[in-house]
Amino acid sequence: MTLPATMQALVTREGGYANNPGPHIDALSDWCELRELPVPEPEEGQVIVRVALASVNPSDLHYVKGSYGQPRIAGGPAGFEGTGEVVAGKGKAAEGLVGARVAFVAPLGGAWAEYVALDHSIVIPLRPDLLEEDAAAQIVNPLTAMAMFDLVREAKAEAFVATAAASQLGKLLAGLARDHGIPMIALVRRESQLALLEEKGAAEALQTTAPGFAEAFAGAAKRLKPRVLLDAVADQVSADVFFAMPNRARWVVYGQLDAEGPRLPQIGTLIFTGKRIEGFWLTEWMRAASSEKRVGVVQEVQARFAEGRWRTDVTATLGLGDALAGLAKALETPDGKVMIRPGA
Ligand SMILES: NC(=O)c1ccc[n+]([C@@H]2O[C@H](COP(=O)([O-])OP(=O)(O)OC[C@H]3O[C@@H](n4cnc5c(N)ncnc54)[C@H](OP(=O)(O)O)[C@@H]3O)[C@@H](O)[C@H]2O)c1
Repeated sequence: MTLPATMQALVTREGGYANNPGPHIDALSDWCELRELPVPEPEEGQVIVRVALASVNPSDLHYVKGSYGQPRIAGGPAGFEGTGEVVAGKGKAAEGLVGARVAFVAPLGGAWAEYVALDHSIVIPLRPDLLEEDAAAQIVNPLTAMAMFDLVREAKAEAFVATAAASQLGKLLAGLARDHGIPMIALVRRESQLALLEEKGAAEALQTTAPGFAEAFAGAAKRLKPRVLLDAVADQVSADVFFAMPNRARWVVYGQLDAEGPRLPQIGTLIFTGKRIEGFWLTEWMRAASSEKRVGVVQEVQARFAEGRWRTDVTATLGLGDALAGLAKALETPDGKVMIRPGA
């Protein structure tokens, strides 16, 4: 197959890190621009994927703002996660994948472009019965949900708490909680999401912005005894919830949706209560997990989506050019992901 010489891509304007906490953007054009770039040539062991659909995850927004766990590459295509077809490869293993429909995470970015070069070993061939939107959001949130749910099980927690529970990841956790019989206390900001979370599998859903939230949480904690807090927000509510949890509770911070961060006046109680504060990053989990473990999790994730036990809710799909002007507005719609279709 002959590939075109150039392609469209959304590239980051600036390089390196910057102190811009939180994923909120007023306009993607503040951080990215649309450029015509050469279509990458595969190096030995690499495949070229024609990107069909890419996710917009909070990690992409942290990255383009310079506040993710790795520095921005100025002028490099953004976007970590997507799906597409392998259209070229170099070396036996890479050439063997030509024609395959795959899911991928581009470690240095590149999903918000028409083509991306990736090491053949990191693309995931997909079952034919997976929907395209599930394929485009197949790795970042599902693998994190599986890994963090393992953490809950290994901790032998009777129950757990999840913040930002109406996020895509929170909804996946609720399904796991129901299927494995470990009650999840789902925390959301909007009243409209309470019923949604219970329908997805949460044992209890509480609205953090409602009057009486602290008392409602204290009651749920007394009944269900949650000892793990899976926290994507890291704000004052998260801190207050953690200190209201039973002794030996773990606060696992895996996202920073709030730009301010909490104050911790009760920090000294950690000395006496056996409580712990820690972080979780999928990138580290991927490095540490055995290849058997990773393969098992990937198969289970595909099965869950193919069988309809999980699904990816999508609120908007934008072309690369439309995303510059329209992404910030599209992200305001709750309860679903925004996708980017590079070829549109
Ligand atoms: N550490 C890791 O390896 C890892 C891997 C995957 C994902 N994550 C993190 O997981 C989180 C969820 O990702 P996702 O893709 O599932 O998100 P998503 O579907 O885009 O949903 C974002 C959710 O966050 C809520 N939210 C935003 N700002 C908030 C705030 N200040 N306080 C409370 N809630 C807030 C929104 O609630 P409203 O409806 O109220 O607006 C929405 O439900 C993100 O923080 C992401 O960075 C981390």
